[in-house]
Amino acid sequence: MVYTAIDSIATGRYKGKKVNMRGWVYRKRESKDTIFLVVRDASGVIQAIVKKDSSTWKAAEKATIESAIALSGTVKEDKRAPGGYEITVDKLEIIGLSETFPIAKDKSKEFLRNVRHLWLRSRKMNTVMKIRGEVLKYIHEFFAKQSFVEVSPPMFISSAVEGGATLFGVKYFDDTMYLTQSAQLHLEVLIYSLQKVYCVAPSFRAEKSRTIRHLTEFWHVESEEAFSTLDDLMRLEERLVSYVCQNTAKKCKKHLEALGLDPKELAKIKAPFPKITYDGAIERLKRRDSKIQWGEDFGFNEERILTQELGGPMFVYAYPKKIKAFYVKAYPDRPEMVMSADLLVPRIGELSTGGARVDDKDEMMRNLADFGLRSEDYEWYVDLRRYGSVPHTGFGMGVERLLTWMLNLESIFDSIPFPRTTRRSYP
Ligand code: 4AD
Ligand code: MG
Repeated sequence: MVYTAIDSIATGRYKGKKVNMRGWVYRKRESKDTIFLVVRDASGVIQAIVKKDSSTWKAAEKATIESAIALSGTVKEDKRAPGGYEITVDKLEIIGLSETFPIAKDKSKEFLRNVRHLWLRSRKMNTVMKIRGEVLKYIHEFFAKQSFVEVSPPMFISSAVEGGATLFGVKYFDDTMYLTQSAQLHLEVLIYSLQKVYCVAPSFRAEKSRTIRHLTEFWHVESEEAFSTLDDLMRLEERLVSYVCQNTAKKCKKHLEALGLDPKELAKIKAPFPKITYDGAIERLKRRDSKIQWGEDFGFNEERILTQELGGPMFVYAYPKKIKAFYVKAYPDRPEMVMSADLLVPRIGELSTGGARVDDKDEMMRNLADFGLRSEDYEWYVDLRRYGSVPHTGFGMGVERLLTWMLNLESIFDSIPFPRTTRRSYP
């Protein structure tokens, strides 16, 4: 038996023809002599009409919302029907009868999060997950075109990348290990063999922040490149973000419109992006009456002001050393400043952090001591500075922040199928 996908019926190709379909009952309405079933499958929804005199009437009567069904019928054009076509059913079979489905109209967000395993069937989540799949594909395409090798870093790690405060410890036989916060240090290892590497993998943060941009488990796009500078890095990142936005605007038009978005807005995201220094950003913020002092890190509020002024996405680079990580390389002529760049976008703030890595062994040893880290925990990492060290750069970008920004989602929770936060680990 050949089964037809609902979205291909909307092309008109099957007008007047007989089709077989499988899916779930999305909506149901009954009149005296007709049952209207809106059926959904992965690709879309279509109205199916069952007449009282047909042999399928009994099955259609029995089919509850979310029952899985198979049906055969004739495709008819109907301008009033959603999608422009409907199906006159002549055979209907219930594959899996549904109990009363708990999700009805006007349920609270909290309720929908508790029944996430069922809410993922909604048209909205169906569409977001399709775009997520496409965005991941464009990310891989982009790196392949730039000749980066995709690598697979470990998830169990023995020492912190981004500070001890957000580490998740895991019992590892008789030891403690940690869930990775970032693949960066292991990617740095791999550039000495492959030069240009990237990965898309989960990162974990025991992050107490309850905001629309924090998860405890997120998907992290990270790259590392040998013989590169901070300027090379910012160019790579802006081209990646442009590539993803341009392709999404072009190839996911229907999905974007289904979410109430205008694909033209995403198509406007084009490299190069504005770039300002940390010093310049502080000046701008002071002019806007911000209380921030030189040397302090930006919060969400400062990021909002900057992206409002310059439009996003935009880079801030050259930060004070003391607000960035131990591995960021200092400017030789201004050692209190480091070659780090954050990419900021409206509404979400920080989309990525990247920078040039310390490539000198002695500077690395000094930094480990200054940051209160034990050099024995980073022995292999320091080794990279012993054997043919090279200037190199890399960055990390959260896939969920990217999607939340691109799709203007209310919260990061809706950008991933099963969000993990301080308060939620179910389902
Ligand atoms: O700024 P972060 O902590 O930088 C690093 O981890 C570097 N080691 C990355 C690198 O250079 N390879 O994290 C990078 C990005 C953030 O800009 C943000 O997009 C995302 O990862 N991210 C989170 N996303 C969701 N929830 C969280 N709790 C996140 N923490 C970081
Ligand atoms: Mg950061």
